[in-house]
Amino acid sequence: MSYSYQIKSLEQYRETYKKSVEDPEGFWGVIAKQFSWKRPWDKVLDWNFTGPEIKWFAGGKLNITENCLDRHLEKLADKPAIIWEPNDPSENNRILTYKELYREVCKFAQVLRNNQVKKGDRVCIYMPMVPELPIAVLACARIGAIHSVVFGGFSAQSIADRIQDAQCSIVITSDGGFRGNKEIPLKSVIDEALLSSPSAKKVIVLKRTQSLVMMKPGRDLWWDEELKKVEAGSSQDFPAETMDAEDMLFILYTSGSTGKPKGVVHTCGGYMVYTNYSFVNTFQYRQGEVFFCTADIGWITGHSYIIYGPLSAGATSLMFEGIPTWPNAGRFWDIVDKYKVNILYTAPTAIRSLMGFGLDPVKGKDLSSLRILGTVGEPINEEAWHWYDEHIGKKKCPIVDTWWQTETGGILISNLAGVTPSKPAHATLPLPGIQPVLVDENGNVVEGTDAAQNAIDSKMPGELKSGNLCIKFPWPSIIRTTYGDHNRCFQNYFSAYKNLYFTGDGALVDEGGNYRITGRVDDVLNVSGHRIGTAEVENAINMHARVVESAVVGYPHDVKGQGIYAFVIRQGVQFDKEQDRKEIIQTVTKIIGAIAKPDKIQFVSGLPKTRSGKIMRRILRKIAEGETSNLGDTTTLLDPSVVEEIKNGKL
Ligand code: PRX
Repeated sequence: MSYSYQIKSLEQYRETYKKSVEDPEGFWGVIAKQFSWKRPWDKVLDWNFTGPEIKWFAGGKLNITENCLDRHLEKLADKPAIIWEPNDPSENNRILTYKELYREVCKFAQVLRNNQVKKGDRVCIYMPMVPELPIAVLACARIGAIHSVVFGGFSAQSIADRIQDAQCSIVITSDGGFRGNKEIPLKSVIDEALLSSPSAKKVIVLKRTQSLVMMKPGRDLWWDEELKKVEAGSSQDFPAETMDAEDMLFILYTSGSTGKPKGVVHTCGGYMVYTNYSFVNTFQYRQGEVFFCTADIGWITGHSYIIYGPLSAGATSLMFEGIPTWPNAGRFWDIVDKYKVNILYTAPTAIRSLMGFGLDPVKGKDLSSLRILGTVGEPINEEAWHWYDEHIGKKKCPIVDTWWQTETGGILISNLAGVTPSKPAHATLPLPGIQPVLVDENGNVVEGTDAAQNAIDSKMPGELKSGNLCIKFPWPSIIRTTYGDHNRCFQNYFSAYKNLYFTGDGALVDEGGNYRITGRVDDVLNVSGHRIGTAEVENAINMHARVVESAVVGYPHDVKGQGIYAFVIRQGVQFDKEQDRKEIIQTVTKIIGAIAKPDKIQFVSGLPKTRSGKIMRRILRKIAEGETSNLGDTTTLLDPSVVEEIKNGKL
């Protein structure tokens, strides 16, 4: 494949950026023409942010799997599409060529069809990182069913909420999964989830760990037995369903500052165009290279840059079942060496955790195949950036610091590897087509921070500016709605500032227009690159019988970026504190999953509240961060004395 829209120089970047903001429809129309459409679109873009009503490529018809699979069969049939490295290095790996992946997806699409899954149905996927996961995802897309992948670390309660919210009719899971030296019992978690999610009538179960699981007659089916029925049939091709560009492709739940996680909706046409475009440009992918994204497919990074972006570009995507530190902290470097990985895309948390093991795990590993490194998910500190640059990239690999979100579908702000300059700890410049601005607390654009206007005026910000990061114009993979509650989408993203998409992040822009993301400015935590709402954790903590009230904030954590600090008022102070701490952690694990476990729990007799009853998180955040002197104005508090007590009891 050739990528005519791959930008090759800084000069070309500047020109392209300018063109993209002067004529967005012309710009995206040319890129979208590179894909395989069953019918061309009538109009590139229709939009307003007050609905929001956003339509890309309206009238266009396509199937994303034809773009990820069928169209490569002529030239790339025998090229590896997915390389799978198992958790345990002594187990055999698996390599699926484009032709093989195509076959598997068609067969599993037929399995879904045999089980009455139709276009528009929602399918919950709760699986370990094995090739059958992308196969299931693509099979859904092939028949036009909407996939909702749930990360394997979420609890039964979290899955039940997601299945119910989307009214999924079927669940695809496995007996269990391997992660390091642990076995995760996925099927039994699903059994529990289904007790409170009656919409799911069937469960397809892949055998991965071969552990004993309960199979409910009439509901539960084995993956391999269903597949055998298809293999016995005559045709193993499965014609791809015709989808409108704006038909839903998937739902992915993510945490916000209030309420339960919301189902972010992406649609077929725009998401396909943008994930491909951003993949090809950010990573400067070259045909034949091996791309290794270490994310889990349960998160947006895995959706966009293990499955859809790389496969639509005919790339070789390496997926890894395990964790970076098992059987030892050299696991990533062994994989890079073994498969001659060219592009490595990982999270700052992983880098920081591996840094902690020193250089021994890197020694003796041939990392010379690496050409480009990437990071995603949270701000990267300069120390980690330099370690990655020096010890992994050997100072010859450009590092792309890619900023984006579940809601944006793909990378919005990042340097283009080796094409536009990198700057440690900076996401740097917007991709062409992306129009960021910073706004102040009154909603006014901070002067000099409107990237599109600057391009048109050939200007630079000139000095360092800060504000809340917004985007003022749609891009093809922008969130379309929150499943089942369109108003929530408006309230969350488009109501804070008129006619702007608000990201929830704070940012700085330097004199040259480089963005540095400083972190969330709302009540959302980012723990090891995982998004967790403070309200969600509080609700879970409050489920514990002896908890009266709680407040959760983030604090800086050396490895995880942010840790979770919970201030808890409990009934019956005579009870053993350690026991209560343990039980609260168990409660959070049960309600949300282990990823949301508080790192610190401080029992307090009261929380700092305003006279109207609002918890002053600002004060708690400062205390958790270790700041005890400069807490700001506390005179508006109902009972200022609790602050002293909380300060004295800080963990
Ligand atoms: O705060 C930003 C942070 O992660 C948030 C999005 O989280 P999620 O939807 O789970 O998606 C993560 C993977 C795309 C953002 O609001 N974030 C993501 N990338 C970066 C980042 N913060 C700083 N630098 C980044 N490169």
